[in-house]
Amino acid sequence: MAEYLNIALPKGRLGEKAYDILEGIGFGCPSIREQNRKLVFENEENKVRYFWVKPSDVAVYVERGAADIGIVGKDILLEQSADVYELLDLGIGKCRMAVAGFKGTRLNTERTLRVATKFPNIAREYFRRQSMDIEIIKLHGSIEIAPVLHMSDVIVDIVETGTTLKENNLEPLEDIVPISARLIANKASYQFNHARIQNMCDSIEALRKDTK
Ligand code: PRP
Repeated sequence: MAEYLNIALPKGRLGEKAYDILEGIGFGCPSIREQNRKLVFENEENKVRYFWVKPSDVAVYVERGAADIGIVGKDILLEQSADVYELLDLGIGKCRMAVAGFKGTRLNTERTLRVATKFPNIAREYFRRQSMDIEIIKLHGSIEIAPVLHMSDVIVDIVETGTTLKENNLEPLEDIVPISARLIANKASYQFNHARIQNMCDSIEALRKDTK
């Protein structure tokens, strides 16, 4: 008798898109479509159990084995350096991590650069590789406002359409890394459920090829 496969989905649009993919390859759980505030859904027939968690917590559930697998943005994976296997790029939630600021902002000056961001580790690593001296200002959202209020010189943030930057008179200055959603697995669960998880990866890849 197969055990349940526990899957952590990030609450929100990305999680819904990811669920559509998983449903499309036979890991459906119809009760998840019900409009309610439940967080855990299971399908006895398919032996899958889904739970909605905060996007930035997905890797924590997976690393600790509460979830066997999960869907998480590469931005969060890079920031948290979680000890999990990154199995697959799902090709959804595409955007990029960038340094942004006012047009013409010079990054390489004698002064310490003030960097506002939700991603201090990514920002620190990026500027360390350029041997630049920076000060991190950790924020939790609406990062674009920091340079507008002259609290920071630049920001390190996600750019998707670029609209938020544009509407605040900012622009991308340097790209750091492309971002998209990844399928991750707990290291022990991956060994234990290898056939099932590998089969899931193969089906997702086949689906992606079909829809290309
Ligand atoms: C993200 C990101 C940018 C915006 C980029 O913010 O932090 O602010 O989306 O998207 P765009 O290039 O398409 O305009 P999010 O909506 O997650 O909210 P936040 O301000 O709380 O970070």
